[in-house]
Amino acid sequence: MEPKNLKWWQKTVVYQIYPRSYKDSTGNGIGDLRGIISKLEYLKELGVETIWFSPFFASPQQDHGYDVKDFRLIDPVYGSMNDFDKLLKNMHEREMKIVLDLVLNHTSVEHPWFIESASNRDNPKRDWYIWRDGQKSNGKKPPNNWRSMTGGSAWKYYENTDQWVYFHFLPFQPDLNYRNPNVKEEMFNTMRFWLDKGVDGFRLDILHSIYEDEKLRNNPFSFSIYSDKNSALFFQQHKYDLNLPETFDFCLELRKLINEYEPERFLVGEVFGGIEQLRDYYGPENNSLNEVFLFEFTSNALKFNINKIRKIISRIEKSIPYPYTPTYVYGNHDRDRYLSLLKGNIQKAKLLVTMQLTLRGVPYIYYGEEIGMENVKFKLKSSEDPIGQKFAKFPYPQISNLIGFSLTRDRCRTPMQWSLEPHAGFSSNKETEPWLKVSNNSKLVNVEIQKENPASLLNIYKKLLKIRKEFNSLHEGELEFIKLEDLFKKVLAYRRVYGNQEILIYLNFANKDLTFRISKSNPELIFSSYFNNKESDIFINDRYIKLSAFEAVIFK
Ligand code: NOJ
Repeated sequence: MEPKNLKWWQKTVVYQIYPRSYKDSTGNGIGDLRGIISKLEYLKELGVETIWFSPFFASPQQDHGYDVKDFRLIDPVYGSMNDFDKLLKNMHEREMKIVLDLVLNHTSVEHPWFIESASNRDNPKRDWYIWRDGQKSNGKKPPNNWRSMTGGSAWKYYENTDQWVYFHFLPFQPDLNYRNPNVKEEMFNTMRFWLDKGVDGFRLDILHSIYEDEKLRNNPFSFSIYSDKNSALFFQQHKYDLNLPETFDFCLELRKLINEYEPERFLVGEVFGGIEQLRDYYGPENNSLNEVFLFEFTSNALKFNINKIRKIISRIEKSIPYPYTPTYVYGNHDRDRYLSLLKGNIQKAKLLVTMQLTLRGVPYIYYGEEIGMENVKFKLKSSEDPIGQKFAKFPYPQISNLIGFSLTRDRCRTPMQWSLEPHAGFSSNKETEPWLKVSNNSKLVNVEIQKENPASLLNIYKKLLKIRKEFNSLHEGELEFIKLEDLFKKVLAYRRVYGNQEILIYLNFANKDLTFRISKSNPELIFSSYFNNKESDIFINDRYIKLSAFEAVIFK
């Protein structure tokens, strides 16, 4: 087979940093850009190349940066434009790529555009947002039945102008009106502003919500409280406010815009839907978003159900085949930490990471996953997260299970656990409490300790990332499932093939030893998730191997 020469963004590994929680260099309890710069060597050593940063633009921080008041300024909480330039330079010097998180969909209510827009009906910025009269003769009912993504009506009433404004997420995040060409032009120029500075790409926040129906038709009822497949949430099918044809056209335009730049840049979209539906976001000729997040692995599959996992991978391979680039996402700043979904079972985590880093596509690692950080419990009422506050009165474990993501996202956003120092080494100031409490497992789970232990999760990540770089077939190769006898339904096996290079991956999902026949005689063992297991522990003879409970192995 001819070499494929995939682009950098098809082969890379992305690491997400939530800047507020990574490293505090000033001692005020909040992470910042200088803190991140001081950890670039750690990231380089870990072996990740592309870093996506949750927003650090000027913002009142009501949604911790996803409520922007100036898209071209760095929020002083995180540093200055000088710090940003330094970050970019330092990353590029280390051959790392920098991806910014762009919230095209909405602004903060404190953005000067919105302040103007809300001031009176004749303001030139009025049409930058979506204002409508209410229903009923007195206008005291929202313009239609649309529900926001966080529940409740998607409209907020403003008495001064006696109109309602539309928001898809939270009331302090009004949606921009992309039917107004000035809005589009301004936001495209914002993208150019950062691209001209040299950023390598954007993660695009709730992009499926960019356009909504011009006639504001009511959404139909749905029987589901949550379903990715038909965009249903809170008993409503989001037919007229999400995934509109105009949004797909918009994505094509975004790709054209980044294509003006050399070297090549990239876009990853946060969009929701079933895998088959999401495929359309890649464009008819792979000419739209370079990637979209596939969130399947943040929920059901991580119950460690091999059948579901096999099905999802098959669906991904079928719907997003080469040259499209699937993504493998286990967590982010909105979702439960995956190790908590595995009830803290490190052997299971090691197996899943082996899988994530050897499947075809781009893996996304959320900060702290590499050391096995887990959810931390927080009360909704005292939650920093505005969603937690909104749901303070609800029975949250139940709701959270139903909709598949966590209601106070504080629990997956706690400070990175670096060391045995106070505040797990996150903040240099002993006296100031970090903005979120540090997990009480930080004495056992931290970078300093795991660095020294060759069998630690951190060292497993490092080893796998190294192997992934070393063998082309792991980032460029085809993926083929290997059929095993029926007896071994608990083993997931596949090969990655590139030219003459063939890599075999066997994952034992059973909680017991299994002995079975492999597809090739006497391959060379290059990795076991059991640090101490050698070839002599695994090979029964040249064709039969024995894997321990939850063991993952790679052969060449
Ligand atoms: C999705 C982001 O991931 C989330 O953190 C944010 O609160 C909303 N979009 C609103 O921007």
